[in-house]
Amino acid sequence: MKIAVLPGDGIGPEITAEAIKVLQALGLKFELETAPVGGAAYEAAGHPLPEATLNLAKASDAILFGAVGDWKYDQLDRPLRPEQAILGLRKALSLFANFRPAICYEQLVDASSLKPELVAGLDILIIRELTGDIYFGQPRGRRTAADGHFPGAEEAFDTMRYSRPEIERIARVAFEAARKRNKKVTSVDKANVLETFQLWKDVVAEVHRDYPDVALDHMYVDNAAMQLVKAPKAFDVIVTGNMFGDILSDEASMLTGSIGMLPSASLNDKKQGLYEPSHGSAPDIAGKGVANPLATILSAAMMLRFSLGQPEAADRIEAAVKQVLAQGLRTPDIYSAGTTKVGTVQMGDAVVNALR
Ligand code: NAD
Ligand code: IPM
Ligand code: MN
Repeated sequence: MKIAVLPGDGIGPEITAEAIKVLQALGLKFELETAPVGGAAYEAAGHPLPEATLNLAKASDAILFGAVGDWKYDQLDRPLRPEQAILGLRKALSLFANFRPAICYEQLVDASSLKPELVAGLDILIIRELTGDIYFGQPRGRRTAADGHFPGAEEAFDTMRYSRPEIERIARVAFEAARKRNKKVTSVDKANVLETFQLWKDVVAEVHRDYPDVALDHMYVDNAAMQLVKAPKAFDVIVTGNMFGDILSDEASMLTGSIGMLPSASLNDKKQGLYEPSHGSAPDIAGKGVANPLATILSAAMMLRFSLGQPEAADRIEAAVKQVLAQGLRTPDIYSAGTTKVGTVQMGDAVVNALR
């Protein structure tokens, strides 16, 4: 089992180190190989996704990814910015299916910014399409406007687009996932305004005919954003496009207590996967030893389950995380009165101890 480890920037190296510690405590045989990515790779090799890093990722069964990005790179030409590394990996490996489960562990009900009764027992799965949409659509750029309200002014443009096969395959992923859960899919779109999402809605409804045992409803994204904080437990599986999924998954993270709790898996049709926390490099807390490593540790559990054929090991990690939370250990982002504040390394150590 070959795992490419790409720690990246900001808190990336801190949280990845804890996930590796946990993986190594399982007593399984892994071949781990680390490579630079993001701003760190730009510094070392002049490019956020050096060819050697990309080749390592392609040659691995799974990739454990920390996070990339820092404000200090915001003025670089876009192809050289750290974020291009994660976008480039997703595209190059065709990692079109992004799973972002939002689970509120019973011990963290008080850490959520919502009322306890709204989040207790919450277990929803956001499935975000990851290689299409306005993120990758061409053309895009800047130019002088030829028409519109201000002809002659500088303008910028991006292209939102989805093809039928792209929508079909992510819809199938969502219906298959729902079959193993509560058999309900909510497809989130903006079909009332956008052609892209009218096609999305039509194709999801067509694919649904092959899954009569799964309930499907359609919801506009603005309403979905509202419903997520009004009655989040009404959802089971949410399937949506790349940009809406990005936004809704950060929103959903607060239902679980913190963005530091939200893992993710990004899969292609060969079950090769990239595993990363849903959050970013958190430059505001980087180097302080306070970042929550649990999203990354839980991403490693998803890696064992989805790409490495080790579901029991994944269960063990998830049980260890629950045990540590039950012991009352909390990084600052999930702290509440009556619990014990710990740092990144202590939290990782506690998970390792709980595994034993
Ligand atoms: P962010 O997710 O990095 O941080 C948002 C807030 O959440 C910050 O206050 C941060 O301290 C907090 N936070 C995030 N992860 C945490 C953790 N594990 N424990 C405790 N607190 C945590 O989002 P941002 O600030 O908008 O972006 C920072 C940089 O990260 C940007 O360069 C952005 O492009 C990049 N980014 C990268 C990824 C990725 O690598 N996949 C994802 C999102 C953002
Ligand atoms: C995420 C991040 C990325 C995204 C950025 C860093 C490119 O926000 O993984 O959620 O927008 O997909
Ligand atoms: Mn995001």
